Amino acid sequence: MVFSRAIKIAPSILSADFADFGREIQAIEAEGADWVHVDVMDGHFVPNLTFGPPAVAAFRKHVKTVMDVHLMIAPVDPYIEAFAEAGADIITAHVEAGPHIHRTLQAIRATGKKAGVALNPGTPAEAVAHLLDLTDLICVMTVNPGFGGQKFIDMTAKIRTLRALIGDRPVHIEIDGGVTRETAPLVARAGADVLVAGSAVFKGGSVTDPAPYGANIRAIRQAADLAANARLA
Ligand code: DX5
Ligand code: ZN
Repeated sequence: MVFSRAIKIAPSILSADFADFGREIQAIEAEGADWVHVDVMDGHFVPNLTFGPPAVAAFRKHVKTVMDVHLMIAPVDPYIEAFAEAGADIITAHVEAGPHIHRTLQAIRATGKKAGVALNPGTPAEAVAHLLDLTDLICVMTVNPGFGGQKFIDMTAKIRTLRALIGDRPVHIEIDGGVTRETAPLVARAGADVLVAGSAVFKGGSVTDPAPYGANIRAIRQAADLAANARLA
């Protein structure tokens, strides 16, 4: 994985057909997904349950790009190795999931995987100020985690602060929740480079009719690229 700040679209398979993950992953990658975002929920840290390491290992067989695993679980440390073994490329843990996020990021890096840190909407950018050299990705939640299809919460001020804190470090800013072709420009302009999108990518398509996935991905990317280029110009 070569570091780049180009806009990357990471469809969340939380919006896929849960009986057909293999073909759904193949379809979104064929339609232009840059990364595949996998939402792990424990019914404790967030009020919803999804999948554990065996399911993630099964997804891995279909992912040719980058498997981006977002852990919404507490505690998180006892499961890091299992998700690393399941084949995650990036493992992201929440600042709010425990008292020792620094140790958690060290533990993720010790597995050889990229380490991400996620911030809930109520958590300030400064919570990661002392973690910047230990992390490869900061995930800014633009919904309260737990469900797909929620309304976007504007976190552009936080994104701008993070972009300034990061400086020249090779750290991605990922946005998760309520990303659409309408909201993508706001976050891209503020400095985000990875856009997670569940409902906005899977809307209107299916494994037997995947063309809408491609149209949705291109629309989000185009809107974000325009805004990112305007920021850099
Ligand atoms: C929310 C998850 C998101 C979610 C995004 O807890 O972390 O990845 O699937 O879904 P949309 O794009 O539908 O808001
Ligand atoms: Zn997520």
